[in-house]
Amino acid sequence: MIEGLPYLASLGVDAIWLSPFYPSPQHDSGYDVSDPRAVDPMFGTIEDFAELVDQAHERGLRVIVDIVPNHVSASHPWFLDALDAAPGSVERRRFHFLDGRGENGELPPNNWESIFGGAAWTRVKEANGTWGQWYLHLFDSTQPDLNWENDEVRADALNTLKFWLDLGVDGFRVDVALGLAKDTTYPDLIDPIGMSQSLRFDLDPGSQEAIDRRAGLANSALFDRDEVQDIYREWRKLLDSYGNDKMAVVEAWVPPERASKYVARDTLHQIFGFDFLVVPWRAPVMRTVIEHAIKAVAQVGAPPTWALSNHDSPRVVTRLGDGDSGLARARALALVAHALPGSIYVYQGEELGLSDVEIPDSARQDPVWFRSAGQQKGRDGGRVPLPWFGTEPPYGFTERFDATLWLPQPQGWGGSTIEAEDIDPFSTLNLYRTSLALRRSHPGLASGDVVFLDTDNPDVLSFQRGADVVVVANTSDRWIAAPTVGMVLLASGPIETGETGLMIGPDTTVWLQT
Ligand code: GLC
Repeated sequence: MIEGLPYLASLGVDAIWLSPFYPSPQHDSGYDVSDPRAVDPMFGTIEDFAELVDQAHERGLRVIVDIVPNHVSASHPWFLDALDAAPGSVERRRFHFLDGRGENGELPPNNWESIFGGAAWTRVKEANGTWGQWYLHLFDSTQPDLNWENDEVRADALNTLKFWLDLGVDGFRVDVALGLAKDTTYPDLIDPIGMSQSLRFDLDPGSQEAIDRRAGLANSALFDRDEVQDIYREWRKLLDSYGNDKMAVVEAWVPPERASKYVARDTLHQIFGFDFLVVPWRAPVMRTVIEHAIKAVAQVGAPPTWALSNHDSPRVVTRLGDGDSGLARARALALVAHALPGSIYVYQGEELGLSDVEIPDSARQDPVWFRSAGQQKGRDGGRVPLPWFGTEPPYGFTERFDATLWLPQPQGWGGSTIEAEDIDPFSTLNLYRTSLALRRSHPGLASGDVVFLDTDNPDVLSFQRGADVVVVANTSDRWIAAPTVGMVLLASGPIETGETGLMIGPDTTVWLQT
């Protein structure tokens, strides 16, 4: 990772967010943490981490680490202790251990479902070898949920935050931030599938069904409960005690009217805007999504955030189409996002225009795949190690980092390596570099406002930033005439100067200085 920093600095990002690198049996790519205040030997030592922070800071990059407060690994000492302890004990009260229903407790305590599929409860064998209580896990059975009504649990999370802050980190990404507080009367849900599937990785998150389900989550028994904000108020105080330069971004896919609660003056700083993970490449929908996203956080003065992809979603190129059209649209959507106010989160490899990889079943790792008995492929296709140089796997990865590939790379990535894209002026990498640099330097793009133009146009999204930047995205498959004339600052695809002025190619976004 330290060796990769010059590349990230050349991309022009301000900060890096690291997914979990803590000791873990890796049942969910590190989101099953057995010690939140250490580095897994597979990745290095605490000294290496401190060195990473120092070197990142020297290059002007801030460091955000992932914190996983909703659950721990089943091999975390607390959970091992809980398994050895009796029902009702202090050790068990750190988790959600309940007696089962049915004559002999053979049925789960309620009908809650795991987000990865199957029941959210697993039954344990008691010390005397008989079947005993059940514990709650909203994700895999190797990820028992912590009970946030427990003072020790709260204090321990604060210790974890302090630990990393003392090592110089600049902020945190809060995993499953909407899930920590639960209704501990554990009511059956009227629509158990509705509750958990709204977040399920196998349901098309853009479908009306998923949108309705997310709306049903607001202040529900499992998610987005109002009292979760009490936890973040405590965290905010701690972050503020380190000066006014620390931040946290929450993973909480909630309806717009709930988003502002997480980023109020006394809670945290940013909430991921997930709409661009699912938005269709269609001007009218994009306009609405952008308007809503900005409005959702504006009332509390928090910045909107934008992400085209992440480690839980298909890569944007794959999501938006096949082959060339997917890439063209992904590049165009990136220019739309990079022209918006707020913060952009770029997922590794997105800047190379990579697509999802077809992973052989024997190599799959995602618990979603295992818990659905192979019905759902899960998220491995977008988590393949990056290609650095060369024309075939491992594309320099193992050589450069003295590491093994955790998922197989495909043939055909020779033109998408960092080395190849670095020297190609038309590569997606260089498009990202230019747009991120302009985003930082151009006064028009630094302003906070977005004024939509030509708002009834079904094929063209256009908006103005500041006094003189106009962004035009042609989401149709035809050439269109630019509705405004000006100097081209940057284009994601083909443009031509015709008799009537600038012509913009299909699936192309252009930044114009008017
Ligand atoms: C979050 C992470 C995801 C992980 C899950 C359980 O959604 O982004 O990768 O599987 O939490 O920790």
